[in-house]
Amino acid sequence: MQSTRIKDLLVTEPLSQEVQLNGWVKTFRSNRFIALNDGSSLGSIQCVVDFENFDEALLKQITTGAALRITGVLVESQGRGQKVEVQVNSIFVHGASDPETYPIQPKKHSMEFLREQAHLRVRTNTFSAVMRLRSSLAFAVHQYFNQNGFYYFHAPIITGSDAEGAGEMFRVTTLDQKRPPLTEDGAIDHSQDFFGKETNLTVSGQLEAESYAMGLGKVYTFGPTFRAENSNTSRHLAEFWMIEPEMAFYDLDANMDLAEDFIKSVLRYILEHCMEDLEFLQKRLLDEEKTKPQAERSEMPLIEKLRFVVDNGFKRVTYTEAIDILRNSKPNKKKKFKYPINEWGADLQSEHERFLVEKHFKCPVILFDYPAKIKAFYMRLNEDGKTVRAMDILFPGIGEIVGGSQREERLDVLKEKMAALDIPEEELWWYLDLRKFGTAVHSGFGLGFERLVLFATGMGNIRDVIPFPRSPQNAEF
Ligand code: 4AD
Ligand code: MG
Repeated sequence: MQSTRIKDLLVTEPLSQEVQLNGWVKTFRSNRFIALNDGSSLGSIQCVVDFENFDEALLKQITTGAALRITGVLVESQGRGQKVEVQVNSIFVHGASDPETYPIQPKKHSMEFLREQAHLRVRTNTFSAVMRLRSSLAFAVHQYFNQNGFYYFHAPIITGSDAEGAGEMFRVTTLDQKRPPLTEDGAIDHSQDFFGKETNLTVSGQLEAESYAMGLGKVYTFGPTFRAENSNTSRHLAEFWMIEPEMAFYDLDANMDLAEDFIKSVLRYILEHCMEDLEFLQKRLLDEEKTKPQAERSEMPLIEKLRFVVDNGFKRVTYTEAIDILRNSKPNKKKKFKYPINEWGADLQSEHERFLVEKHFKCPVILFDYPAKIKAFYMRLNEDGKTVRAMDILFPGIGEIVGGSQREERLDVLKEKMAALDIPEEELWWYLDLRKFGTAVHSGFGLGFERLVLFATGMGNIRDVIPFPRSPQNAEF
């Protein structure tokens, strides 16, 4: 007999038909009612056991966490809160679960505790909802680009270049760590390393994506990226997934239009397809908010917040305008910012970004035309000679969710930029080639997938929206 997913059973007309289902026990009450969940949706199905027909030894194995196969009859439910239930005919225990030591008890656990049980936490309602949403968002990303003429491009994960120039890379090497070969002047001799040169895990697939955009037209990456930045925050991971579209013949305006349309489209997708999980997470958040002081509560429930983003234009503001706003803002004058804003040219910290989005504009903001000095080498220099065609998208509760730019397509300007930053031309000869052979205006951006999931689920910590988070001092599992 074929098994049916519980999600489908819950909406099946109960005609006393025989069904088979598999899942894990959420609860077993009164030696009679098993709530069985298989991860297909939040809903557990109630399976009613007539205990007189079953061995006591078998019934003892039905504890929270045990994996069961049940066959029975699908009938209209007698109880409240569910349309159907299963009258159990037979139970097969795939695997029992010791109730004394099973960590996921049917009660509220702290997020910190569940992070230590990351291999089991997906069996909680919260994590199963978050991870289903994550999966749906990933699907919506691919669907969006597929429907808009983009090709999915797989950037290499091992690379010799530091795209962002921030030096936050994980080294990839097979050299003996205790006694690495040395050059005459005492440096590690990477010519003897596996790749014959220094290599790292990629911080961004952008440079390679540019090469493919200059041949396929429109491409996007969606893969893991790695940053060895020692920021132990609720917004940073050492391993995260990034989506990087790159488009030939797009200028910065077209780039911003695309980014806004893309984000709205994937959020619209989950509003249309994932309402049950969103409602659950919204309720969870509302319950949590009740325990906070009024001032710290968010102004909109989760679903309303998502709708607001989907239905309203993002505010586009230049860096220069933003600096003016920040300089004259109350928190700046009252010295409430940890990093006070005094001068044009200051890098924006997350406190400034969140002030602009949450307090000043009260909507997502696209900041553009940043000072060249605080942005990466590949961004296109403006006519003023001091700003670049960069754009960051800032989201409420998150801060920066997207970073992107129009790329410097002029060979001479790019070379000057690289020279000024001491980036050797030999290292990026192939990237310079793209400016020699059929160069063109082109643009792209990177969206941090976990930051998007964070926003979409209303979770508070980025470590709770990726299955097995990697962060400083933490690579368990
Ligand atoms: O602004 P970033 O560093 O931009 C780039 O890497 C460009 N090469 C992208 C491009 O133009 N193709 O990173 C892009 C986004 C950030 O806006 C943020 O959402 C996310 O990646 N991000 C991180 N997410 C989680 N943990 C980290 N440590 C992150 N660093 C960046
Ligand atoms: Mg950035």
